Amino acid sequence: NTYVVIMAGGIGSRFWPFSRVSHPKQFHDVFGTGESLLQTTFKRFKDICPPQNVYVVTHKDYASLVREHLPELSDNQILQEPIGRNTAPCIAYACYKIEKQNPNANIVVAPADHVILREEAFTNCLKEALQATSERDILVTLGIKPSRPDTNYGYIQFIDDEQNTLKKVKTFTEKPNLEIAQMFLDSGEFVWNAGIFIWNAKAIIKAFKAYLSDMADTFEEGHSALNSTEEENFISRAYSHCRNISIDYGVMEKADNVFVILGDFGWSDLGTWNSLYSLSEKTAEGNVIDGNTLLYDVHNCIVKTPANQLVVVQGLQDYIVAEYDNVLMICRREDEHKIKDFVADAKAIK
Ligand code: GDD
Ligand code: MG
Repeated sequence: NTYVVIMAGGIGSRFWPFSRVSHPKQFHDVFGTGESLLQTTFKRFKDICPPQNVYVVTHKDYASLVREHLPELSDNQILQEPIGRNTAPCIAYACYKIEKQNPNANIVVAPADHVILREEAFTNCLKEALQATSERDILVTLGIKPSRPDTNYGYIQFIDDEQNTLKKVKTFTEKPNLEIAQMFLDSGEFVWNAGIFIWNAKAIIKAFKAYLSDMADTFEEGHSALNSTEEENFISRAYSHCRNISIDYGVMEKADNVFVILGDFGWSDLGTWNSLYSLSEKTAEGNVIDGNTLLYDVHNCIVKTPANQLVVVQGLQDYIVAEYDNVLMICRREDEHKIKDFVADAKAIK
């Protein structure tokens, strides 16, 4: 009864210009391992369910990339969205579709772009969560011990009942501002939401009905179209009615049956340049380099450029130098939050 849904429709704009609308980061071999993030993610679930129970949700423009990266998937396992509407519609689509095939489905929902260093510990956490959601209609997420007041994450406060690894969530706060994130961190009572969810089909559908009822209505109405030749037509209509909202704001902040399992499996959301910096091997000068580079008096920089290009840098510290597909960006590492403005301006120029 176990299924996995991989969300692979984001454009990774905080990782620009490496991650692009035409080729988002989940389709890149970020660490030079010979595998894209999507391929690594897919393989990570091999002990959780058979490959025919894995579904990938993505924008229709990326369907051929998904097919290319995961040739083992049938077309029915690649869910194509007509427009990106964030994670709530993506999860509704996948969960309603799976529920129609198997009302007792027990589902793991995971992003395509995370790094997990200790796979066995991760798998054990998932198995524990799946055991719980096969017995109870609850929404489970994985929690990570926070190390900085990062405002890109959801923060979870839980009831620390030491006997149980499954802990009842008291509050869920998606992307707090810096002041609040710092307060959460200082209190020692919060963990980061890893953005990996486990629930059974009935529980998540109940949650959609309760907290995103307009979305639930849309998918209930078109229920008969799912898994039929009408699916594509229905989905294109359904998405035009769906709000742009994440599952975190739409459901997780509101629901009262959320539980968390604390995980220590070397997790990282490869969301930003600095997260790549902290995860990558560095030279003696603290640089993360890729491609063909000559560096002189360069410290603590990321230089990520195409392999066929020689890059020469002198006298630079704490910078990101990144080039991909005809865009070169040079940005102070501490200012990486400004990248979203660059992306917007660059779009305006094009
Ligand atoms: N199919 C599809 N469609 N996938 C999407 C869409 C969409 O419209 N939007 C985003 N995704 C995918 C992304 O590719 C990513 O794999 C995943 O959904 C999560 O989206 P992000 O946009 O990366 O979310 P986030 O990182 O800002 O926040 C979430 O993850 C954090 C941990 O990494 C939240 O769950 C936070 O609470 C959490 O801390
Ligand atoms: Mg993310």
